[in-house]
Amino acid sequence: MTTANKSDKDRVVIFDTTLRDGEQCPGATMTFEEKIEVAEMLDDMGVDIIEAGFPIASVGDFEAVAEIAKNAKSAVIAGLARAISGDIARAGEAVRHARRGRIHTFVSTSPIHLAHQMRKSEAEVLEIITATVTQARNLVEDVEWSAMDATRTPIDYLCKCVETAIAAGATTVNLPDTVGYAVPDEYRRMFKTIRERVPNADKAIFSVHCHDDLGLAVANSLAGVEGGARQVESTINGIGERAGNAALEEVVMAIKTRGDVMPYWCNVESTMLTRASKLVSAATSFPVQYNKAIVGRNAFAHESGIHQDGMLKNAQTYEIMTPESVGVKQTSLVMGKHSGRHAFQHKLEELGYKLAENQLQDAFVRFKALADRKKDIYDEDIIALVDEEMAAS
Ligand code: KIV
Ligand code: ZN
Repeated sequence: MTTANKSDKDRVVIFDTTLRDGEQCPGATMTFEEKIEVAEMLDDMGVDIIEAGFPIASVGDFEAVAEIAKNAKSAVIAGLARAISGDIARAGEAVRHARRGRIHTFVSTSPIHLAHQMRKSEAEVLEIITATVTQARNLVEDVEWSAMDATRTPIDYLCKCVETAIAAGATTVNLPDTVGYAVPDEYRRMFKTIRERVPNADKAIFSVHCHDDLGLAVANSLAGVEGGARQVESTINGIGERAGNAALEEVVMAIKTRGDVMPYWCNVESTMLTRASKLVSAATSFPVQYNKAIVGRNAFAHESGIHQDGMLKNAQTYEIMTPESVGVKQTSLVMGKHSGRHAFQHKLEELGYKLAENQLQDAFVRFKALADRKKDIYDEDIIALVDEEMAAS
Protein backbone atom coordinates (compact mmCIF):
# COMPACT_ATOMS: atom_id res chain seq x y z
CA MET A 1 0.00 0.00 0.00
CA THR A 2 1.41 3.45 -0.86
CA THR A 3 1.54 6.26 1.72
CA ALA A 4 -1.09 8.13 -0.28
CA ASN A 5 -3.58 5.31 0.29
CA LYS A 6 -3.10 5.13 4.05
CA SER A 7 -5.95 6.34 6.17
CA ASP A 8 -5.82 6.95 9.94
CA LYS A 9 -8.82 4.74 10.54
CA ASP A 10 -6.94 1.75 9.15
CA ARG A 11 -3.82 2.23 11.22
CA VAL A 12 -3.06 -0.72 13.47
CA VAL A 13 -1.11 0.11 16.59
CA ILE A 14 1.47 -2.55 17.45
CA PHE A 15 1.76 -3.35 21.15
CA ASP A 16 4.67 -5.60 22.05
CA THR A 17 4.51 -7.70 25.22
CA THR A 18 7.70 -9.76 24.77
CA LEU A 19 9.05 -8.35 28.03
CA ARG A 20 5.87 -9.16 29.98
CA ASP A 21 3.70 -11.98 28.56
CA GLY A 22 6.68 -13.28 26.56
CA GLU A 23 8.89 -13.39 29.61
CA GLN A 24 6.12 -15.24 31.47
CA CYS A 25 6.74 -18.40 29.46
CA PRO A 26 8.64 -20.96 31.51
CA GLY A 27 12.39 -20.61 31.08
CA ALA A 28 12.33 -17.28 29.19
CA THR A 29 13.50 -15.01 32.00
CA MET A 30 15.70 -12.14 30.83
CA THR A 31 18.27 -10.14 32.78
CA PHE A 32 17.92 -6.40 33.36
CA GLU A 33 20.50 -5.67 30.64
CA GLU A 34 18.83 -7.99 28.15
CA LYS A 35 15.48 -6.31 28.74
CA ILE A 36 16.97 -2.88 28.14
CA GLU A 37 18.54 -4.11 24.89
CA VAL A 38 15.31 -5.70 23.64
CA ALA A 39 13.31 -2.57 24.53
CA GLU A 40 15.78 -0.36 22.64
CA MET A 41 15.44 -2.51 19.55
CA LEU A 42 11.62 -2.49 19.74
CA ASP A 43 11.64 1.29 20.12
CA ASP A 44 14.00 1.71 17.14
CA MET A 45 11.85 -0.66 15.10
CA GLY A 46 8.79 1.60 15.46
CA VAL A 47 6.75 -0.56 17.85
CA ASP A 48 4.07 1.80 19.21
CA ILE A 49 3.69 0.44 22.74
CA ILE A 50 6.16 -1.66 24.73
CA GLU A 51 4.75 -3.50 27.72
CA ALA A 52 7.99 -3.49 29.66
CA GLY A 53 6.96 -5.71 32.58
CA PHE A 54 4.82 -6.27 35.64
CA PRO A 55 6.24 -3.78 38.18
CA ILE A 56 4.68 -5.36 41.30
CA ALA A 57 6.08 -8.80 40.41
CA SER A 58 9.62 -8.10 41.68
CA VAL A 59 12.06 -5.30 42.37
CA GLY A 60 13.95 -6.36 39.23
CA ASP A 61 10.82 -6.03 37.10
CA PHE A 62 10.05 -2.63 38.59
CA GLU A 63 13.56 -1.38 37.92
CA ALA A 64 13.56 -2.65 34.34
CA VAL A 65 10.22 -0.98 33.58
CA ALA A 66 11.38 2.29 35.18
CA GLU A 67 14.68 2.28 33.23
CA ILE A 68 12.97 1.47 29.93
CA ALA A 69 10.42 4.22 30.64
CA LYS A 70 13.21 6.75 31.20
CA ASN A 71 15.06 5.86 28.00
CA ALA A 72 12.28 5.25 25.48
CA LYS A 73 12.54 7.59 22.50
CA SER A 74 9.13 7.29 20.94
CA ALA A 75 7.27 4.20 22.16
CA VAL A 76 4.63 4.38 24.88
CA ILE A 77 5.86 2.35 27.87
CA ALA A 78 3.26 0.27 29.68
CA GLY A 79 3.41 -1.43 33.07
CA LEU A 80 0.96 -4.20 33.93
CA ALA A 81 -1.14 -4.17 37.11
CA ARG A 82 -3.76 -6.49 38.53
CA ALA A 83 -7.00 -4.86 39.69
CA ILE A 84 -5.37 -4.15 43.03
CA SER A 85 -4.62 -0.70 44.37
CA GLY A 86 -0.97 -1.52 45.29
CA ASP A 87 -0.28 -2.94 41.82
CA ILE A 88 -1.66 0.14 40.12
CA ALA A 89 0.33 2.52 42.32
CA ARG A 90 3.54 0.56 41.62
CA ALA A 91 2.89 0.50 37.85
CA GLY A 92 2.21 4.25 37.96
CA GLU A 93 5.50 4.83 39.76
CA ALA A 94 7.42 2.66 37.25
CA VAL A 95 6.17 4.54 34.17
CA ARG A 96 6.26 7.98 35.81
CA HIS A 97 9.36 9.15 33.94
CA ALA A 98 8.29 7.96 30.52
CA ARG A 99 7.63 10.58 27.87
CA ARG A 100 4.47 8.58 27.31
CA GLY A 101 3.52 6.16 30.07
CA ARG A 102 0.60 3.74 30.26
CA ILE A 103 -0.92 1.70 33.07
CA HIS A 104 -2.41 -1.56 31.85
CA THR A 105 -4.79 -3.01 34.40
CA PHE A 106 -6.83 -6.16 34.05
CA VAL A 107 -9.49 -8.20 35.78
CA SER A 108 -11.14 -11.51 34.95
CA THR A 109 -14.67 -11.38 33.59
CA SER A 110 -15.61 -14.99 32.68
CA PRO A 111 -17.91 -17.09 34.90
CA ILE A 112 -15.22 -19.71 35.48
CA HIS A 113 -12.67 -17.11 36.63
CA LEU A 114 -15.23 -15.25 38.75
CA ALA A 115 -16.33 -18.45 40.49
CA HIS A 116 -13.00 -20.16 41.04
CA GLN A 117 -10.24 -17.57 40.88
CA MET A 118 -11.77 -14.25 41.93
CA ARG A 119 -14.63 -15.63 44.08
CA LYS A 120 -16.56 -12.44 43.27
CA SER A 121 -20.00 -11.69 41.83
CA GLU A 122 -20.50 -9.91 38.51
CA ALA A 123 -21.67 -6.78 40.38
CA GLU A 124 -18.54 -6.79 42.55
CA VAL A 125 -16.30 -7.04 39.49
CA LEU A 126 -18.06 -4.03 37.94
CA GLU A 127 -17.28 -2.06 41.10
CA ILE A 128 -13.66 -3.19 40.94
CA ILE A 129 -13.42 -2.01 37.32
CA THR A 130 -14.68 1.45 38.23
CA ALA A 131 -12.37 1.79 41.22
CA THR A 132 -9.19 0.51 39.54
CA VAL A 133 -9.55 2.30 36.22
CA THR A 134 -10.35 5.53 38.09
CA GLN A 135 -7.26 5.10 40.27
CA ALA A 136 -5.08 4.47 37.20
CA ARG A 137 -6.55 7.49 35.37
CA ASN A 138 -5.65 9.66 38.34
CA LEU A 139 -2.03 8.64 37.81
CA VAL A 140 -1.69 8.71 34.01
CA GLU A 141 -3.67 9.87 30.99
CA ASP A 142 -3.21 6.64 29.09
CA VAL A 143 -4.99 3.67 30.70
CA GLU A 144 -5.56 0.28 29.15
CA TRP A 145 -8.11 -2.04 30.70
CA SER A 146 -8.27 -5.76 29.88
CA ALA A 147 -11.09 -8.24 30.43
CA MET A 148 -9.16 -11.39 31.20
CA ASP A 149 -10.76 -14.45 29.56
CA ALA A 150 -13.03 -12.15 27.52
CA THR A 151 -13.71 -14.84 24.92
CA ARG A 152 -15.38 -17.09 27.54
CA THR A 153 -17.44 -14.23 28.98
CA PRO A 154 -21.17 -13.92 28.13
CA ILE A 155 -21.52 -11.03 25.70
CA ASP A 156 -24.16 -9.08 27.71
CA TYR A 157 -21.93 -9.00 30.78
CA LEU A 158 -18.84 -8.23 28.71
CA CYS A 159 -20.69 -5.21 27.23
CA LYS A 160 -21.43 -3.95 30.76
CA CYS A 161 -17.78 -4.38 31.80
CA VAL A 162 -16.50 -2.52 28.74
CA GLU A 163 -19.00 0.31 29.22
CA THR A 164 -17.96 0.61 32.88
CA ALA A 165 -14.23 0.65 32.06
CA ILE A 166 -14.66 3.36 29.42
CA ALA A 167 -16.89 5.42 31.72
CA ALA A 168 -14.14 5.25 34.37
CA GLY A 169 -11.58 6.57 31.86
CA ALA A 170 -10.01 3.59 30.02
CA THR A 171 -8.57 4.84 26.75
CA THR A 172 -7.80 1.36 25.37
CA VAL A 173 -9.98 -1.71 25.92
CA ASN A 174 -8.30 -5.06 25.39
CA LEU A 175 -10.41 -8.20 24.97
CA PRO A 176 -7.96 -11.09 25.26
CA ASP A 177 -8.38 -14.64 24.14
CA THR A 178 -6.52 -15.59 27.30
CA VAL A 179 -6.72 -19.35 26.84
CA GLY A 180 -6.46 -19.45 23.04
CA TYR A 181 -10.00 -20.81 22.72
CA ALA A 182 -11.61 -18.57 20.10
CA VAL A 183 -11.85 -19.18 16.37
CA PRO A 184 -11.42 -16.26 13.97
CA ASP A 185 -14.99 -15.52 12.97
CA GLU A 186 -16.20 -15.74 16.56
CA TYR A 187 -13.47 -13.32 17.70
CA ARG A 188 -14.28 -10.90 14.86
CA ARG A 189 -18.00 -10.95 15.79
CA MET A 190 -17.24 -10.32 19.46
CA PHE A 191 -15.52 -7.02 18.62
CA LYS A 192 -18.22 -6.04 16.15
CA THR A 193 -21.01 -6.70 18.66
CA ILE A 194 -19.27 -4.89 21.51
CA ARG A 195 -18.54 -1.86 19.34
CA GLU A 196 -22.16 -1.76 18.15
CA ARG A 197 -23.78 -2.31 21.55
CA VAL A 198 -21.65 -0.37 24.02
CA PRO A 199 -22.89 3.25 23.94
CA ASN A 200 -19.50 4.89 24.66
CA ALA A 201 -17.43 2.44 22.56
CA ASP A 202 -16.11 5.14 20.24
CA LYS A 203 -14.24 6.73 23.17
CA ALA A 204 -11.68 3.90 23.33
CA ILE A 205 -9.37 2.00 21.03
CA PHE A 206 -10.08 -1.73 21.04
CA SER A 207 -7.26 -4.23 21.26
CA VAL A 208 -6.70 -7.90 20.47
CA HIS A 209 -4.50 -10.15 22.60
CA CYS A 210 -4.41 -13.77 21.43
CA HIS A 211 -2.79 -16.92 22.73
CA ASP A 212 -1.81 -19.77 20.46
CA ASP A 213 -3.22 -22.87 22.18
CA LEU A 214 -5.02 -23.89 18.98
CA GLY A 215 -2.44 -22.34 16.66
CA LEU A 216 -4.89 -19.54 15.80
CA ALA A 217 -3.34 -16.54 17.54
CA VAL A 218 -2.33 -14.61 14.41
CA ALA A 219 -5.50 -15.51 12.49
CA ASN A 220 -7.61 -14.46 15.48
CA SER A 221 -5.67 -11.19 15.83
CA LEU A 222 -6.34 -10.28 12.20
CA ALA A 223 -9.99 -11.28 12.59
CA GLY A 224 -10.28 -9.01 15.64
CA VAL A 225 -8.90 -6.14 13.56
CA GLU A 226 -11.51 -6.96 10.92
CA GLY A 227 -14.09 -6.61 13.74
CA GLY A 228 -12.85 -3.08 14.53
CA ALA A 229 -9.91 -3.51 16.91
CA ARG A 230 -6.97 -1.23 16.09
CA GLN A 231 -4.32 -2.42 18.54
CA VAL A 232 -2.62 -5.81 18.25
CA GLU A 233 -0.76 -7.27 21.23
CA SER A 234 1.99 -9.68 20.24
CA THR A 235 5.48 -10.91 21.04
CA ILE A 236 8.69 -11.43 19.06
CA ASN A 237 8.93 -15.09 17.97
CA GLY A 238 5.45 -15.61 19.48
CA ILE A 239 6.88 -16.44 22.91
CA GLY A 240 4.44 -16.35 25.82
CA GLU A 241 2.37 -18.35 28.29
CA ARG A 242 1.85 -22.02 27.29
CA ALA A 243 1.79 -22.19 23.45
CA GLY A 244 2.67 -18.50 23.26
CA ASN A 245 1.16 -15.27 21.96
CA ALA A 246 0.52 -14.01 18.44
CA ALA A 247 3.93 -13.53 16.79
CA LEU A 248 4.62 -9.85 16.09
CA GLU A 249 6.62 -10.58 12.94
CA GLU A 250 3.75 -12.63 11.49
CA VAL A 251 1.13 -9.99 12.24
CA VAL A 252 3.30 -7.22 10.76
CA MET A 253 4.14 -9.16 7.59
CA ALA A 254 0.55 -10.34 7.07
CA ILE A 255 -0.54 -6.69 7.21
CA LYS A 256 2.29 -5.58 4.90
CA THR A 257 2.00 -8.43 2.42
CA ARG A 258 -1.78 -8.60 2.03
CA GLY A 259 -2.60 -4.93 1.49
CA ASP A 260 -4.58 -6.16 -1.52
CA VAL A 261 -7.26 -7.68 0.73
CA MET A 262 -6.75 -5.75 4.00
CA PRO A 263 -6.53 -1.95 4.11
CA TYR A 264 -4.54 -1.91 7.37
CA TRP A 265 -1.06 -0.58 7.94
CA CYS A 266 1.36 -0.23 10.82
CA ASN A 267 4.57 1.63 11.56
CA VAL A 268 6.94 -1.24 12.29
CA GLU A 269 10.15 -1.28 10.24
CA SER A 270 9.98 -4.83 8.95
CA THR A 271 13.64 -5.00 7.86
CA MET A 272 14.53 -5.19 11.57
CA LEU A 273 12.37 -8.25 12.28
CA THR A 274 15.10 -10.85 11.80
CA ARG A 275 17.52 -9.02 14.08
CA ALA A 276 14.83 -8.64 16.74
CA SER A 277 14.04 -12.35 16.48
CA LYS A 278 17.70 -13.30 16.93
CA LEU A 279 18.11 -10.91 19.86
CA VAL A 280 15.06 -12.28 21.70
CA SER A 281 16.06 -15.85 20.95
CA ALA A 282 19.55 -15.24 22.39
CA ALA A 283 18.25 -13.33 25.42
CA THR A 284 15.68 -15.99 26.33
CA SER A 285 17.70 -19.02 25.14
CA PHE A 286 14.60 -20.06 23.23
CA PRO A 287 15.51 -21.44 19.79
CA VAL A 288 13.39 -20.39 16.83
CA GLN A 289 11.94 -23.41 15.05
CA TYR A 290 13.49 -23.92 11.59
CA ASN A 291 10.18 -23.61 9.76
CA LYS A 292 8.88 -20.62 11.77
CA ALA A 293 7.08 -18.16 9.49
CA ILE A 294 9.07 -15.01 8.63
CA VAL A 295 12.10 -15.56 10.91
CA GLY A 296 12.79 -19.33 10.83
CA ARG A 297 16.00 -20.32 9.07
CA ASN A 298 13.98 -22.11 6.35
CA ALA A 299 11.56 -19.22 5.75
CA PHE A 300 13.49 -18.20 2.60
CA ALA A 301 15.19 -21.52 1.79
CA HIS A 302 14.22 -23.81 -1.09
CA GLU A 303 15.35 -27.36 -1.76
CA SER A 304 12.95 -28.95 -4.23
CA GLY A 305 14.11 -28.96 -7.85
CA ILE A 306 10.83 -27.52 -9.10
CA HIS A 307 10.91 -24.67 -6.58
CA GLN A 308 14.59 -23.91 -7.17
CA ASP A 309 14.03 -23.86 -10.92
CA GLY A 310 11.11 -21.44 -10.44
CA MET A 311 13.12 -19.24 -8.07
CA LEU A 312 15.98 -18.97 -10.58
CA LYS A 313 13.52 -17.81 -13.22
CA ASN A 314 11.49 -15.42 -11.05
CA ALA A 315 11.58 -15.19 -7.24
CA GLN A 316 7.86 -14.46 -7.04
CA THR A 317 7.12 -18.01 -8.18
CA TYR A 318 7.72 -19.30 -4.65
CA GLU A 319 8.20 -16.26 -2.42
CA ILE A 320 5.37 -13.95 -1.37
CA MET A 321 7.69 -11.42 0.25
CA THR A 322 11.34 -10.65 -0.32
CA PRO A 323 13.92 -11.84 2.21
CA GLU A 324 15.29 -8.26 2.28
CA SER A 325 11.90 -6.98 3.51
CA VAL A 326 12.42 -8.85 6.80
CA GLY A 327 16.16 -8.24 7.03
CA VAL A 328 17.45 -11.48 5.46
CA LYS A 329 20.25 -10.91 2.92
CA GLN A 330 19.09 -13.35 0.31
CA THR A 331 17.08 -16.42 -0.55
CA SER A 332 19.01 -19.66 -0.15
CA LEU A 333 18.80 -22.52 -2.57
CA VAL A 334 19.79 -25.47 -0.42
CA MET A 335 21.58 -28.23 -2.32
CA GLY A 336 20.17 -31.64 -1.50
CA LYS A 337 18.66 -34.75 -3.05
CA HIS A 338 15.58 -32.80 -4.16
CA SER A 339 17.59 -30.21 -6.07
CA GLY A 340 17.40 -30.19 -9.85
CA ARG A 341 19.93 -29.64 -12.64
CA HIS A 342 19.14 -25.96 -13.02
CA ALA A 343 19.97 -25.21 -9.37
CA PHE A 344 23.05 -27.45 -9.52
CA GLN A 345 24.37 -25.58 -12.55
CA HIS A 346 23.61 -22.24 -10.86
CA LYS A 347 25.54 -23.38 -7.76
CA LEU A 348 28.53 -24.38 -9.92
CA GLU A 349 28.53 -20.97 -11.55
CA GLU A 350 28.40 -19.33 -8.13
CA LEU A 351 31.45 -21.42 -7.18
CA GLY A 352 33.26 -20.31 -10.33
CA TYR A 353 32.89 -23.45 -12.51
CA LYS A 354 31.85 -23.55 -16.13
CA LEU A 355 31.51 -27.21 -17.22
CA ALA A 356 30.98 -28.68 -20.65
CA GLU A 357 27.56 -30.26 -21.14
CA ASN A 358 28.79 -33.88 -20.69
CA GLN A 359 30.83 -32.97 -17.60
CA LEU A 360 27.87 -31.18 -16.11
CA GLN A 361 25.64 -34.22 -16.67
CA ASP A 362 28.16 -36.59 -15.05
CA ALA A 363 28.76 -34.25 -12.14
CA PHE A 364 25.02 -33.95 -11.60
CA VAL A 365 24.60 -37.74 -11.47
CA ARG A 366 27.42 -37.97 -8.91
CA PHE A 367 25.94 -35.12 -6.91
CA LYS A 368 22.56 -36.92 -6.73
CA ALA A 369 24.25 -40.11 -5.56
CA LEU A 370 26.12 -38.17 -2.87
CA ALA A 371 22.94 -36.37 -1.76
CA ASP A 372 21.24 -39.75 -1.28
CA ARG A 373 23.98 -40.78 1.14
CA LYS A 374 24.66 -37.48 2.91
CA LYS A 375 22.11 -35.28 4.67
CA ASP A 376 23.94 -31.97 4.46
CA ILE A 377 25.74 -31.04 1.27
CA TYR A 378 28.23 -28.22 1.67
CA ASP A 379 29.96 -26.15 -1.00
CA GLU A 380 33.15 -28.07 -0.18
CA ASP A 381 31.42 -31.36 -1.11
CA ILE A 382 30.42 -29.95 -4.47
CA ILE A 383 33.88 -28.52 -5.11
CA ALA A 384 35.49 -31.92 -4.35
CA LEU A 385 33.02 -33.71 -6.57
CA VAL A 386 33.52 -31.36 -9.53
CA ASP A 387 37.31 -31.37 -9.17
CA GLU A 388 37.23 -35.19 -9.33
CA GLU A 389 34.97 -35.05 -12.38
CA MET A 390 37.28 -32.62 -14.16
CA ALA A 391 40.36 -34.68 -13.32
CA ALA A 392 38.66 -37.82 -14.65
CA SER A 393 37.51 -36.32 -17.95
O1 KIV B 1 -3.77 -13.30 28.29
C1 KIV B 1 -4.21 -12.40 29.03
O2 KIV B 1 -5.40 -12.30 29.32
C2 KIV B 1 -3.24 -11.43 29.55
C3 KIV B 1 -3.79 -10.24 30.26
C4 KIV B 1 -2.97 -9.89 31.45
C5 KIV B 1 -3.94 -9.10 29.32
O3 KIV B 1 -2.07 -11.56 29.31
ZN1 ZN C 1 -1.72 -13.00 27.67
